[in-house]
Amino acid sequence: MDIKISEISAQETHKLRHEVMWPHKPRAYVVLGNDEEGKHFGLFKDSNLISVVSLFLDGKDAQFRKFATKTSEQGNGYGTLLLNHLMTVVSNDKRIKKLWCNARADKIAFYERFGMIQTNKRFAKGGVKYIIMERTF
Ligand SMILES: CC(C)(COP(=O)(O)OP(=O)(O)OC[C@H]1O[C@@H](n2cnc3c(N)ncnc32)[C@H](O)[C@@H]1OP(=O)(O)O)[C@@H](O)C(=O)NCCC(=O)NCCS
Repeated sequence: MDIKISEISAQETHKLRHEVMWPHKPRAYVVLGNDEEGKHFGLFKDSNLISVVSLFLDGKDAQFRKFATKTSEQGNGYGTLLLNHLMTVVSNDKRIKKLWCNARADKIAFYERFGMIQTNKRFAKGGVKYIIMERTF
């Protein structure tokens, strides 16, 4: 089995984002207005894209969004590999002092393993509960 992580285009993330995160919404729902300004990372297993995540910089802050692993490949450690890669990219980028994300409530424990800490900011969207989590660098 061959595993590779590389930077990909925004467009390449859209199919997985859609089928994994919001399959019942139109595809346009997963396209972000500022997608072209983001950095996008993909994990390939034997040349197939199975996990994606996107990073957006705003001054000293960076947000990661739209983290998704193909449903049939979840729970095999691929998301962990991709998020560890993202943490390395962020830690090597001296501009970034804080990384944050809108975490789905059921993913809090998962993100805590990457040093992300819960803030007191919570909200709901599309029937999903979120909490803002962050890590300083
Ligand atoms: C969140 C998401 C991207 C994680 O990707 P993933 O590839 O499943 O991640 P991993 O396999 O590394 O970890 C998932 C779980 O499997 C466990 N795991 C990791 N490696 C494992 C392995 N080799 N064998 C068994 N389990 C493993 C992890 O501990 C983790 O457990 P947890 O959910 O109880 O914390 C994926 O679940 C997903 O796409 N979910 C739907 C969309 C979503 O919720 N996105 C995030 C929005 S905040």
